[in-house]
Parts: sequence; structure tokens; C-alpha cells
Amino acid sequence: MRSILFVCLGNICRSPLAQGIAEKIIKEEGLDIRVDSAGTGDWHIGESPCAHSIKVAALNSVDISMQKGRQIEEADLEAFDLIVALDQSNYENLKKMGAKNLIKLGHFGHLNADVPDPFFFEGFEGFDTVFSMIESCVTVLLKKQK
Ligand code: 4NP
Repeated sequence: MRSILFVCLGNICRSPLAQGIAEKIIKEEGLDIRVDSAGTGDWHIGESPCAHSIKVAALNSVDISMQKGRQIEEADLEAFDLIVALDQSNYENLKKMGAKNLIKLGHFGHLNADVPDPFFFEGFEGFDTVFSMIESCVTVLLKKQK
């Protein structure tokens, strides 16, 4: 079974969406892939995803409400076949940690753009854009695993 880890900064806004979208596609298509998510930072360990991410996911029939934030650990670098960074800054930090099987989510669409950090967005606005960016890139990423 292949395994993919999605990584952002806090593991409460973006990577939980990537994990939830991937889980839904994997279930629908019966793929043999395990996914998880983590943050490079330690501020939100054990927390639920942010309310706006839970909401935008639910509006798109994706349930991320049971996820809990965690920080990436050294062991993850070996445990996952592919580590997918949600933006360039997280990509660089993962590279510094020694991640080798590393790629940026934007590699799979949106001209390699970073998924913007929505933590400081004003309210819900922008979360729909973040969702659709992640959804289209994750869809292409999973197609390429077949
Ligand atoms: P995420 O968003 O990386 O998409 O989960 C953030 C969440 C929290 C913080 C930054 C980004 N923070 O600074 O606490």
C-alpha cells in the first residue's frame, strides 16, 4: 500500500483538507493508498481543524471534523512513500529536516502555486478558493498513483 503525508504549517487549515479530500477519493475509487496529515509547527497539537475548514469541507461533502492536529516527526520521513508540502515554506522546512520523497502540492496543478495560508484570512472568504485548489491538485496526484 502506498502512503502519502500532507504537510502544512499548523495542521488545522490546509493539510486536513488535503487529507479529507484524498480519503474521500480513495474510498470512492477503492484505491490502495493510506493518507495522513501533519504540521511543521507545534501550536495546534491535539486540536480539531479550524471551523472554516470544517465548514468548507462539509459544504463539499468531505468530513474532516474528527481529525486532530499533530506535528511531523522524524519517523514520518521514512514511514511515508511521499510527503506533500502545501507551500514552498513548508517544502523548505521539510527539506531541511531531511525529507527526500518530497514534492509540493502545486506540482499537480495551479502552476506550482502555494496554497495560501488561510489562518489570517478575514472570516470564511477565501476558504472556497483554498478548497478548490487543494481538491484539483489532490485529484491529479491520486490519478498519478494508479
Ligand atoms: P495551516 O494554517 O498551516 O493551513 O494549518 C495555519 C494554522 C496555524 C498557524 C499558521 C497557519 N499558526 O501560526 O498558528
